[in-house]
Amino acid sequence: MEYKLRKAEPKDVPDILRLVKELAKYEDMEHQVALTEKDLLEDGFGETPFYHCIIAEIQGEKSSEDPNVVGFAMYYFTYDPWVGKQLYLEEFYVMDKCRGLGIGSEILRHLSDLAMKTRCTGMMFVVAENNEPSVQFYKRRGAEDLSEEEGWRLFRFDKTSLAKMATPAEE
Ligand code: ACO
Repeated sequence: MEYKLRKAEPKDVPDILRLVKELAKYEDMEHQVALTEKDLLEDGFGETPFYHCIIAEIQGEKSSEDPNVVGFAMYYFTYDPWVGKQLYLEEFYVMDKCRGLGIGSEILRHLSDLAMKTRCTGMMFVVAENNEPSVQFYKRRGAEDLSEEEGWRLFRFDKTSLAKMATPAEE
């Protein structure tokens, strides 16, 4: 199966949301996906993109058919005051039937090229503790487990907590 990687375009938003939901389902957290196509369109393709995506696609049986989107990576840039620019890998998913073909490794190659070109000092990501196949996939490529090695814990203020701390809205 031949595949191609390319930058996501606005027309890819329905496929991006489909794959986001598939990954959430794989992680048993599908019910937490609240985002809509409209949000993804505004947030990724507006004046200030809050995320970027690489799309992997495979040509359908007939050349007249549109290629099928079978995988993606969503990323953005963050900043670490100790070491500078970092690439943050937010989502990484290849459909079950297309795994093991090298698509995931090619996406990582693409992101590594981008990281080198933009002089990032690393690529950060979070993996669910029970997602052992992916933990091993990353470790085989040299990833360090910072929770284990450095004891970092992942925190979040949800919207309710933020609203409590924020300036009260004027009546
Ligand atoms: N399924 C999965 N892996 C297979 C399969 C198969 N059917 N057959 C072989 N493999 C092996 C390959 O030999 C290869 O081994 P290697 O690590 O020694 O090279 C590895 O598994 C897969 O390598 P690729 O083909 O390059 O990667 P793939 O296209 O399968 O994509 C990915 C990797 C994205 C992790 C994919 O397995 C996937 O979508 N997994 C489920 C979702 C997931 O866990 N995503 C990551 C969450 S973490 C985050 O998003 C930051």
